[in-house]
Amino acid sequence: MEGSRYLRLGVNVDHVATLRNARGGVFPDPVRAAHLAIEAGADGITAHLREDRRHIRDEDMARLKREILKPLNFEMAATDDMVAIALDTRPHACCLVPEKRSERTTEGGLDVIGGHDHLKIVTTELGKAGVRVSLFIEPSLEAVQASRSIGAPVIELHTGAWCDALAHHQSERAAREFARINTVVTLASGQGLECHAGHGLDFATAKTVASLPEIAELNIGHFLIGEAVFTGLKAAIAKMRAAMDEGRALATGSRTHV
Ligand code: PXP
Repeated sequence: MEGSRYLRLGVNVDHVATLRNARGGVFPDPVRAAHLAIEAGADGITAHLREDRRHIRDEDMARLKREILKPLNFEMAATDDMVAIALDTRPHACCLVPEKRSERTTEGGLDVIGGHDHLKIVTTELGKAGVRVSLFIEPSLEAVQASRSIGAPVIELHTGAWCDALAHHQSERAAREFARINTVVTLASGQGLECHAGHGLDFATAKTVASLPEIAELNIGHFLIGEAVFTGLKAAIAKMRAAMDEGRALATGSRTHV
């Protein structure tokens, strides 16, 4: 598959570092996981340098930038410290995310309305340095409008609420959440924003979201690293790639023919 219809897979290696840090020491190495992920078909590597450094550390990010041959997507909070590290690291992309110390994972999208002016400054500064900025947002029309006004070329839609509804067999809520994603993707891509999606995706949800033809990239971590315990990382990624390709094939059959 090629051209604009190709759906990229960014593999998030944070939780390899979580496992390493549980013991201290150097094993397992998230950079080794990144190399394997690329061999298995990942189009890029995503890593989140959290303020508390609970998984990825500064040295991991520097090594990822030095060693991997595919694009590095640096997830970070829009703080002065993180901007300084990103400007020093010069990753291909930065995904700006909200961050609360007490949360277990990134629980919601950025407050792109309340934080508009600050996010605009950070987005402009990173953009001038040649870093492609994406804003991790809730799938809402207001968030898309604010993202456009901020000037980011890319948005990443938070799929967590949809995946959570499915995991809890809440079919009506899941249908509502998916409809939100679908509507927002159509609107955002129509306005020239590149759309990515991520959070909580597994084989089935990745296949479904891949059927939305405007989505250009999925970023997936926790499920893949968990699955790797049972099948190995390469097999898990190959299976994810296949699920995404199956979903994308459905997209070609649906929206292009309406
Ligand atoms: N995209 C963003 C912006 C995230 O913050 C995360 C979680 O770090 C992911 C994607 C990946 O989510 P998951 O680990 O649930 O696949």
